[in-house]
Amino acid sequence: MRIGIVQSSPVFGEVKKNIADCFDLMASHSADLWVLPELFASGYQFLNPAEARDLAETVPGGITTQALIEYAYSKSCFIVAGLPELDDDSVYNCSILVGPDGYLARYRKIHLFYEEKTNFTPGDLPFAVVDIGIAKIGMMVCFDHLFPESARSLALQGADVIAHPANLVLPDLAQRTMSIRALENGVFTATANRVGTETRTDEALTYTGQSQVVAPDGQALVRLSQDRVEVAVVEIDVSDARDKAITKHNDKLGDRRPDLYRL
Ligand code: ACM
Repeated sequence: MRIGIVQSSPVFGEVKKNIADCFDLMASHSADLWVLPELFASGYQFLNPAEARDLAETVPGGITTQALIEYAYSKSCFIVAGLPELDDDSVYNCSILVGPDGYLARYRKIHLFYEEKTNFTPGDLPFAVVDIGIAKIGMMVCFDHLFPESARSLALQGADVIAHPANLVLPDLAQRTMSIRALENGVFTATANRVGTETRTDEALTYTGQSQVVAPDGQALVRLSQDRVEVAVVEIDVSDARDKAITKHNDKLGDRRPDLYRL
């Protein structure tokens, strides 16, 4: 299976241009599963909830989901990507999974970061895993990386690959945590972060790139630059995520002792 990560530099509010830029980047590569950044078409630095609402789209009816479905159909691939989702009066920081046959699943970010707490409604759906045939895919978004329960919930449901759209601003944090999430759960992780700077408030946000795919042993298979628009495609063997043995007597998931964990 080939996993592609897209490290783009969206322009705030330029939804159609940002979608087209990603498709241009992807066009010269071939992948079975593409992962695009968090809020990849809208941009990230919303000034207030009304602005987030203006750029939010319904799923699967909105233009971003529809464009992704069309691309997935034309290239026979699957895509995970982030967008602001409008559902009734609520706006969620959402990640969707689409494939050649259309829309498959959504995940609404549970752990909101910084001013997202003002502009979005916290996710209200449990972590879920979707079997796309070639692999079982789980989704989480950006800051979820710091909460081990996110990746663990997905691993316990059988995820082989955790797709992780991100807009990271704290340098070199998620790269480390996601390597550990991959290692401790014995899964592949694919983090697609953006680059560029948004200066819509006095507090400029510079996104830190270094998008990466990590193997179940915690080693990065690829890590992109800190500041360039780039894509990478890596070949993985999904069966590496299904063998959780550490020794012949130890198993990463089987040795857990939930009877003694106080959560
Ligand atoms: C983040 O969750 N976008 C840092």
